[in-house]
Amino acid sequence: MGTGDEMVGASPSICAVFDLVRKMANTEMPVLITGETGTGKELTARAIHEQSSRKHGSFVPINCGAIPETLLESELFGHERGAFTGAVQQKKGKLEAAAGGTLFLDEVGDLLPTLQVKLLRFLQEGTFQRVGGQEARHVDARVLAATNVDLKTAIEKNLFRVDLYYRLGVLHIHLPPLRDRGEDILLMAMVFLKQAAVTYRKSIRGYTPQAVDVLRAYSWPGNVRELSNRVRRAVIMAEGTEITPYDLDLPVEKVQVAESLDSLRAAHRRIEMELLVKAISLHRGNLTRMARDLEVSRSTLYRKLRAYGLEKFVPAATPLLFSSRPESKKSAKLSLQDNQSGILPEPTVVNLPSEPLHQFPQSVEPPVSL
Ligand SMILES: Nc1ncnc2c1ncn2[C@@H]1O[C@H](COP(=O)(O)OP(=O)(O)OP(=O)(O)O)[C@@H](O)[C@H]1O
Ligand SMILES: [Mg+2]
Repeated sequence: MGTGDEMVGASPSICAVFDLVRKMANTEMPVLITGETGTGKELTARAIHEQSSRKHGSFVPINCGAIPETLLESELFGHERGAFTGAVQQKKGKLEAAAGGTLFLDEVGDLLPTLQVKLLRFLQEGTFQRVGGQEARHVDARVLAATNVDLKTAIEKNLFRVDLYYRLGVLHIHLPPLRDRGEDILLMAMVFLKQAAVTYRKSIRGYTPQAVDVLRAYSWPGNVRELSNRVRRAVIMAEGTEITPYDLDLPVEKVQVAESLDSLRAAHRRIEMELLVKAISLHRGNLTRMARDLEVSRSTLYRKLRAYGLEKFVPAATPLLFSSRPESKKSAKLSLQDNQSGILPEPTVVNLPSEPLHQFPQSVEPPVSL
């Protein structure tokens, strides 16, 4: 994506988001991005920008909730000299700074009604005025917006204009909370671990089986940001070569009773991911030993690692990958069997694109919903 921050994910729900990003990037329309805190709204907006024809222009974020009301208008639209006390010279706003690029309005639900009108005018007519200015100005900027408040409730309370909502939200991307992304928790935990291990120069290769269970069981209210911070902290704290539950130091939560059942496929994917991460950690990425333990052929194992975006974590595997030796058929006992039992469908081949999704996919097949 050019920002150094790649979007990680292989679950069907995040693949659907990747697909929307790709389709929406090619239009000039605004996109409304919603989701709980830390789910990746800003990263998604950057991805849309990076995949659009505006990628050579600037991506200009502005947090509508963090700037005092009195300053926000001039921050956004700029001001003319003498527009208010202290306006000693003319200044361009973020909107003009985004000319040829993308303006990202973060926390758009916090925009005051007067500014909502001005934004609506810009979206409808492409014109705006600087504070203290008379002239209607034009600028070629695409608007993306994000919010983690429910705009429909804000509309009911007369805090948000319904016409602006319809303008902004024709194209809408909702980012699912991390707890609903199945196997992505562990995939991200591995990716963040690898990054932190490099940054802090520690030779940590994985998680203890108990740490995997803890990662899986936690509800992640702070979503991806919380996971990334926890893993970084754990890497700093860890004394061994594997991260333990102690290093993760996750708060103890009341056990939640699941409100709905997982589909068999989703459960299968989650368990496979869990076993793969445990095996990578236990065997330090040794493909042969992992395959022996999981009772699958090395080629099946490698195919699954790729499908889940985990092949990066078994660097020694590549030369073994397309070995022409016939794989011996084994009796299938574990979940990673060569899928001859017919009890569960093969999830990875059906649902995942042929390229691994540990980075934002450049071209993926449409996700098959589960
Ligand atoms: N799919 C992802 N892959 C990798 N990193 C991610 C992903 N989603 C989010 N992150 C990381 O998680 C952190 C939070 O992401 P981001 O700031 O985009 O979330 P947000 O939804 O805008 O949060 P907030 O509502 O608090 O503003 C960032 O460090 C981001 O790089
Ligand atoms: Mg944000």
